[in-house]
Amino acid sequence: MLDWSPPQESEEISHPFVAAVYDTVVPDRLLFRPHRRYLTADLSGRVLDVGAGTGANFPYLAGADVASHAIETDPHMRRQAAEKAREVGCDVTLRDARAESLPYDDDSVDVVLASLVFCTIADPDRALEEVARVLRPGGELRFLEHIRADGWRERGQELLNPLWSRAAGGCQLTRDTVERFVCHDAFAVEDLERVGVGIFPATPIVRGTLRRRHEGLHS
Ligand SMILES: C[S@@+](CC[C@H](N)C(=O)[O-])C[C@H]1O[C@@H](n2cnc3c(N)ncnc32)[C@H](O)[C@@H]1O
Repeated sequence: MLDWSPPQESEEISHPFVAAVYDTVVPDRLLFRPHRRYLTADLSGRVLDVGAGTGANFPYLAGADVASHAIETDPHMRRQAAEKAREVGCDVTLRDARAESLPYDDDSVDVVLASLVFCTIADPDRALEEVARVLRPGGELRFLEHIRADGWRERGQELLNPLWSRAAGGCQLTRDTVERFVCHDAFAVEDLERVGVGIFPATPIVRGTLRRRHEGLHS
């Protein structure tokens, strides 16, 4: 009864309660400030924040000399993200879209940001294909993601996952997101680091940068 099934394409993704409490419940500044700085350091060109949530990356994009874009599918999250953009003076084009179907042309984005989002995307493989499609050759996917643990923690995650995913807007504790990233032919690994923050069961957290390869585009 508690099993999570991914939302269908036709189904609206809408978690008003999660959106309302997200910034209060997640001690973002305490946990993630240096990692959001990592994600947004020395940006140039067109930057796309995938699954922007309440706009936690926007304060770090404000003032950067870039064309900032973001997609967010949940209307409640999107409303908060728009407010955050106004508050912090982030000039961002915020769209209602899903990561599995990005409203951007091939090779049209310089940097994709993915923070704490591949845990929640219904079809992460398709989303990664989309990221590879829209990134220009040489472009970067910078990410901060929690992944499946090992040992007793993994077993704990498996036990907690049905309840957790319901309470946390579909977030999956047991995804092998980094493996998915580093095994993809379109990307070369530039940087990968397990970071010592986070609170079980949404740990470990890994940050990194993948570079879009030049060969084998859009086959
Ligand atoms: C845990 S929040 C993270 C938000 C933000 N990136 C951050 O760093 O705080 C995950 C977000 O992904 C969004 N999301 C869920 N499914 C998505 C999809 N298929 N495409 C894009 N965003 C999605 C959710 O609505 C939610 O706002």
